[in-house]
Amino acid sequence: MAFPKVNPTKTEAWKLLSKHFSEMKEVKMQTLFSEDNLRASTFSLTWNDFFVDYSKNRISAETLQLLLQLAEEVKLKEAIEAQFEGVSINETEDRAVGHTQLRNFKNLPSAVSVTLQKMKTFSEAVISGNWKGYTGKSITHVVNIGIGGSDLGPDMVCEALRYYKNHLEVRFVSNVDGDHVMETIKDLDRETTLFIIVSKTFTTQETLTNAETIRAWFLGQAAKDDVAKHFVAVSTNLEAVSNFGIDAENIFPMWDWVGGRFSLWSPVGLSIACAVGYQHFEDLLKGAHEMDVHFRGAPFSENIPVILALLSVWYNNFFEAESECMVPYSQYLSKLVAYLQQGIMESNGKSVDRNGNPIDYQTGTIVWGSTGTNAQHAFFQLIHQGTKLIPCDFIAFSESLYGNKDHQNKLLANCFAQTEALLQGTYESGVENNFKKFEGNRPTNTILIEKLTPKSLGSLIAMYEHKLFVQGVIWNIFSYDQWGVELGKIVAKGTLSAIETKEVSKISNSSTSQLIKKL
Ligand code: F6P
Repeated sequence: MAFPKVNPTKTEAWKLLSKHFSEMKEVKMQTLFSEDNLRASTFSLTWNDFFVDYSKNRISAETLQLLLQLAEEVKLKEAIEAQFEGVSINETEDRAVGHTQLRNFKNLPSAVSVTLQKMKTFSEAVISGNWKGYTGKSITHVVNIGIGGSDLGPDMVCEALRYYKNHLEVRFVSNVDGDHVMETIKDLDRETTLFIIVSKTFTTQETLTNAETIRAWFLGQAAKDDVAKHFVAVSTNLEAVSNFGIDAENIFPMWDWVGGRFSLWSPVGLSIACAVGYQHFEDLLKGAHEMDVHFRGAPFSENIPVILALLSVWYNNFFEAESECMVPYSQYLSKLVAYLQQGIMESNGKSVDRNGNPIDYQTGTIVWGSTGTNAQHAFFQLIHQGTKLIPCDFIAFSESLYGNKDHQNKLLANCFAQTEALLQGTYESGVENNFKKFEGNRPTNTILIEKLTPKSLGSLIAMYEHKLFVQGVIWNIFSYDQWGVELGKIVAKGTLSAIETKEVSKISNSSTSQLIKKL
C-alpha cells in the first residue's frame, strides 16, 4: 500500500472549486440561512458527546460536494489506510506513524502494553506515597523537563484535567532560559520532588542543559546514589539516558514511530498519569481511540476531522485566509492553542510536495487564539471588523464541572452570541454609522461537547490530529517530519561558541556578529 502523491491543484475538483469560488465569494451566509430553514441541521454532525455545527461557513451543498470530491481525488481514503496500516508514510525519515497504535487497547503492540503497565505501577507508587525519596519521604512535586512535544502535550493536558487532579503538584520546565529553571525549582524540596526528563532523542540542547542544571542543584544536597529515587526518563535513546546516570529501571521507552508532537499518548504522558492517576490517563487514550475509529470508518461527509479539514482548505486555498483562530470557552483549555500550534504548524509548514517539488499553492495555516470570553476583550475586534478573513473554531462544553449554572449560562451565551454576531453583523439592519457597522459573514465552527472529561479531551485532541493530517494529504506534503527546525539548531552551535569565546570571525553575518559583540 503506497502513500498517494497527488497534486491537488491538478485535480478536476480543484478546477471546479476555483470556478465555484468565483460564484461563492460574494455570497452572504445571511442569505444562505434565510433561504434554507434546514441549513443548521444539514451542516451539523453528531458523534458521541460531540455536536459540530459548521453551518456558519461560506459554503453551499455544492461547495461541500466539490470539497468531498477533492478528498476522493487526492486519495484521502488510501492515505488514511496507509497511516493506520503502519506504512512508512513519514518517508523523509523512513518511518511509520503510529501514535494511533498507542491508544488502540484491543490491539496494543506488546512493548506498549508492557510500558503502560510500568507507567501504571510507577504513577500509583508515586501518588500513593509508596515511592520514597532519598530521605524516606513521599513525593509531593513532579517536574517534567522537556520541550516541544515533550512538554506542550503533557502541560496542556495537566491543565485541561486540573479538575481531576490529585495532591501532587506537577510543574513543567522547558525553556533553556535559566531563569525559567530557577523560578520552577527555587522553592522545591529536593527530598520530595521527582524529575521526569522527557526527550525522544535525548540530544535536545534545552532539555539536556536543564536536566544537568537540575541534577547539579539536586546533588547540592543529595548524593549521586540518590539520583535513582528522584530522576526518571522517557526516551528512545536508552544509551544516552543511561550515560546521563539514570537507573535502567527508571527508563520509560519511547518509539521512533511516534512523532514528538503526537507523543502525549506515550510515556511522554507520564506526568499526566502522575497528576490525574493512571485510569484517567487511560480514559484519555480511549477517547482518542474512539475518534480514531470514527475518522477511519465514517464516510467523509459525516467525518468530523475530514469536514473540518476541507473547510480549512476552502478558506486557505480559495479565500486566501492566512490564519485560523481557536477559541475554547473553558479556562481549562488555556494551553490548547499553544499545543495545537506545534501540532499543526510544525506538521504543515512545508513548501515542498511529496514528490520533492517546490509548491506553488498555499499550505499550512497559521493557528492562533485564546480562551473565551477573555479573547472577546482582546483581539475579537479584529475578527469582527478588521480587513482579514479569519475562520474561527469555537469549542465549548454544555456542562461545567463545578456546576455553577449562572456562570455556565453566561459563558455559553457569549460563545453562541459571538458566532451569531460574526455571522449576522449589522450590515443589513440599516446601521448608518460606518464605524458601528459589522458586515458579518465571518465563518465559524462550533464544537459543542457535553462535558470536559479525560475521554472527551482525548477525542478532541485526536480530532485536531486527524484534521491536520487530512490537510497535509490534500496539500501533498509530508506532515510528519520537521526539517525546518534543524537549521536553527545548527546555527545556534556557532553563535554559542562565538558568545562563549567572544570570537566572532566565524560568524558570517555582520548584524549577528554586532549583536554578539554587544554582550
Ligand atoms: O525541534 C523540534 C523538536 O524536534 C520537536 O519536534 C520535538 O517535539 C522537540 O524538538 C523535542 O524533541 P525531543 O523530545 O527529542 O527532546
